[in-house]
Formats: sequence, structure tokens, C-alpha cells
Amino acid sequence: MITGSSRGIGAAAAQHLARCGAHVIIACPSAEEGRSAADAVRRQVASARAESVVCDLGDLAQVHEAAERITALAGRRLHLLINNAGVAALPPTRSADGFEMHFAVNHLGHFALTGRLLPALLNTPRPRVVNVSSVLHWLGRNGARPHEPQRYHRWQAYFDSKLAALLFTHGLVTWARAHRLPLGAVTAHPGLVDTTLASRVLHTTGRKAEARLLRGLQTRWASPAAAAWTLVRAATDPHISAGEFLGPGGRWECSGPPVRVRAARRASDAQAVQGLWDLSQELADHPFRPPAPTAPSPTTRP
Ligand SMILES: NC(=O)c1ccc[n+]([C@@H]2O[C@H](COP(=O)([O-])OP(=O)(O)OC[C@H]3O[C@@H](n4cnc5c(N)ncnc54)[C@H](OP(=O)(O)O)[C@@H]3O)[C@@H](O)[C@H]2O)c1
Repeated sequence: MITGSSRGIGAAAAQHLARCGAHVIIACPSAEEGRSAADAVRRQVASARAESVVCDLGDLAQVHEAAERITALAGRRLHLLINNAGVAALPPTRSADGFEMHFAVNHLGHFALTGRLLPALLNTPRPRVVNVSSVLHWLGRNGARPHEPQRYHRWQAYFDSKLAALLFTHGLVTWARAHRLPLGAVTAHPGLVDTTLASRVLHTTGRKAEARLLRGLQTRWASPAAAAWTLVRAATDPHISAGEFLGPGGRWECSGPPVRVRAARRASDAQAVQGLWDLSQELADHPFRPPAPTAPSPTTRP
């Protein structure tokens, strides 16, 4: 299951995984774009099983409903969740729930979705969650109230949300260990990629020169198909341990084959990890609930 897989890196990751035999579930806000992305996967890979689900991560009620549909589509067994969807460089915007939009879509919606998909994930032997960050997380800050920042800057909000992706991974690893659950969580960043992330919104919000400059740079960067391999390795390599961070191994981590990369130290700061976890639990109505202990069967000896 891959969020934001109607286009860009997510769509390419869906194609790679389908080619490897995975049953892929594509999630995005538009039913039509989701259907056409699933059709594209089936066109590329004749034997592919690909379906789509509407999920606007900026609307927690919709995330809840989407989790139920995904659970049903996956037959209550979800091996892999890639939290890839993202927005960048938006003008000040609030989500359906009233939260700053980068925080809401890039982090909180994924936090809620992951929590709601836990029963299906834990129904498989070694489930894994991949959170997608960016090399730009190095510029991110741990604000006390990221859902309602006092001063807003469109790029800073994006950097902060990509730092949150790493903090979320560490929170998930800590939580799974505390509850002795076999859930693996890792982070991946794709490098610099030729998609319309940010440039599209800069264009539609009147920042045409900035959009043109960014688009000009983007076309020199890695293709979505090449960049998606980092996500695929993070999702499938059995030698990657919980909490690890993967990115492209070329110069400045812009492109290249996926390797383990370094994250900013504050991305694993225990206090920041716990702070974001507690805030997200509260804002998203506690999606993470430890599974109820299974009652001993009559034949089980004490
Ligand atoms: N491109 C880069 O250079 C780069 C670099 C570092 C990290 N990343 C990260 O890689 C990930 C994918 O980026 P990309 O470049 O592939 O971007 P993209 O081409 O703009 O694709 C973004 C995807 O996210 C979906 N999305 C947007 N808003 C959403 C919402 N409210 N709810 C659910 N889905 C939503 C979009 O769906 P719609 O099309 O329907 O809106 C689309 O499928 C992001 O997390 C991004 O931060 C990208």
C-alpha cells in the first residue's frame, strides 16, 4: 500500500513492486487519478494486481474510512505500507481538521493511517512501514506546535514535516518495541527527483519565476523510476534494520543507488520523538492502541 502513488515517485514505486509480484494498493485524493494510476500499473505489468483507494491525508475522518477500505482490499493482511504522499511550498493553508497543511498531510495523516492499519499490518509475520523524508530534513526544526505555527514560511513548513517523518519512524520503532510487536519501521529519502512537487503549486499561486527555476532544475534531477528504488529497497531488503535511513548514494545524496545515509542528530532525539508522538496521538484521536492480548485457548497450559 503506497500513499501518493497517483504520480511521481509513489507511482514509480507501485510499478516496481507490481513487477516484483506485489499486489499493490494505490492511494491518492482523487478517485479518477487513482483508477488511472492502477490502470497504468496493469498496462505496464500484465500480471499485476493493482487497486486504488481514495484517501485525502489532510482529512482525518477520510483517513479513517480509507484505512477500513484498504484493510478489506488487502484481505486484512498488509505486508507493507509506504507513507510517500507529500505536499510542498504551499501558501498558508489549513487542513480539513484545521492543522497546518504540510504537517497534516506529510505527517499527521500518515500517522493516523498507520495506526488505523495496524491490525492488518500485524496480521502478517514481518510487516514494515516506510516513511518518506528528504535530504532537506537537515533544515527542519522541532517546533512545539507544528500543527499551528506562529510564523509561517512555506519551505520551512516542508522541511519541518520531513524532519517529522524521521521522528515518526523512531517513535514507531520505540512503540513497537515497548509492546513487543514485530513491526519494522524505516525511513527513505529519494534524493532530488524530476517531479512537479512544489513547482506546480508555486505556479498556481503566482510564483511563476520560482516555479520556472525549480522546474528547470527538476528536469536535471533523477527520474521518478530511478528514485523509487530507494523506497523499494527500504521496503523489501531483509538486511535493513528498524530505524535505519536510506537514500541515494551519489554525490550530495541527490541520486544514485540506495544506501544507508546519515540523518540529522535531532531526528532521533528521544524527547522530540516522544513529544511528536504524544502530540500526534492527541490530534489524531489515538490511532495507536496496543492490540488486545489474545485470550488463552482452552488447550493452552499456564
Ligand atoms: N521530488 C523530489 O525531489 C523529492 C525530494 C525529496 C523527497 N521527496 C518526497 O517524495 C514524496 C513523493 O514526492 P513526489 O516528488 O513524487 O511528489 P508528486 O509528484 O507531487 O506526488 C505527490 C503525491 O502525493 C499525493 N498527495 C498530495 N496531497 C495529498 C493529500 N492531501 N492526501 C493524499 N495524497 C496527497 C499526490 O496526489 P494528487 O496528485 O492527487 O494530488 C501525489 O500522488 C514526498 O513525500 C516528497 O516530500 C520528493
